[in-house]
Parts: sequence; structure tokens; C-alpha cells
Amino acid sequence: MKTQSTFNLSVSVNGKPWSGEVPIEETLLEFLRNRLQLIGTKRSCESEVCGACTVLVDNRAVSACNYLAFEANGKSVLTIEGVAQGEQLDPLQEAFIRNIGAQCGYCTPGQIMAAKALLMENPTPSREQIAEWLNGNICRCGAYGAIAQSILEAAQESQAKRERP
Ligand code: FES
Ligand code: FES
Repeated sequence: MKTQSTFNLSVSVNGKPWSGEVPIEETLLEFLRNRLQLIGTKRSCESEVCGACTVLVDNRAVSACNYLAFEANGKSVLTIEGVAQGEQLDPLQEAFIRNIGAQCGYCTPGQIMAAKALLMENPTPSREQIAEWLNGNICRCGAYGAIAQSILEAAQESQAKRERP
């Protein structure tokens, strides 16, 4: 029996459509980093433990190392490269800079993408809810306090924006 070795993928990445053949076993992480050169998404454990490779697929956080590219067919992928609006950084990015939430920075794209998913689901999380949500995102620099503070500030800023007349 002949098995299928490639897939004709159609996906939107950071708002841009992409179509083409990909090997059936290609992970979303390989697709983003090697094929699209979107190297902001990081590779680390490759076993869905560290969160460094977190991206959003249809606004849901996934570990790109354990998600096959073809599974994103017909879906919308958001990576760290698509978070800013032109020159305007996302409130999360601004808060991470302000609070030194990025130290070596290796975990930062994954932390920001996971935080984005959190704020979509819960726009006003408590510090405890942030800690719980991010328990799959490891920071070897131990910047957890600054990361949580950044997310709280970004949430407050977005809420203030929503309440402005
Ligand atoms: S590299 Fe994907 S979770 Fe660690
Ligand atoms: S800032 Fe270095 S691993 Fe998190």
C-alpha cells in the first residue's frame, strides 16, 4: 500500500497566505523556522515541556514542536513576528521591555505568545491565574516575577484602553 508522504498545505501565517507541499511529518516548528525563516519561535525541548515554541493556531496556544504543519491546514497561525502592528509594539512586548521580563530572551517569544492566548481568553487575569497558565513555559533565567508583572500591566493597559471614551 502506498502511503502519503506530502500534504498540500494552505495556511495563513501572520496574516499572509501560504500554500505548498510539505512532508507529512514536518512539524509546525520546522515549517516556521526552516521554510518561512520565522526564527523568533524557539526550539528547545522538542517534547512539549518547555513552551519555547509556543505559537497561536486559530488563537489557541500550541507547542509548535509537537504539532504537525499539515494540522494547521485552513487555519491561522500567529507567531511572535506577527504580534506588533507595524512599528507599534504589542502592549505585552512593551511591558516585557519595561519590566526586563526578557533576560537572555530565549523563552520570551513563547512566554508572550502564551500570554496573548491567556489575555484573549481572560482579559483580566490575576497573578495566580497567570502563574497557573504559564506553568508550561519554562524560564531558565528565572524571570518569572517580571514576566507575571508584564502580563498584569499589559492586561491593565488594554482594559484602560477599552474603557476610554
Ligand atoms: S520546544 Fe516545544 S515545548 Fe519545548
Ligand atoms: S529570559 Fe532567559 S530563559 Fe527566560
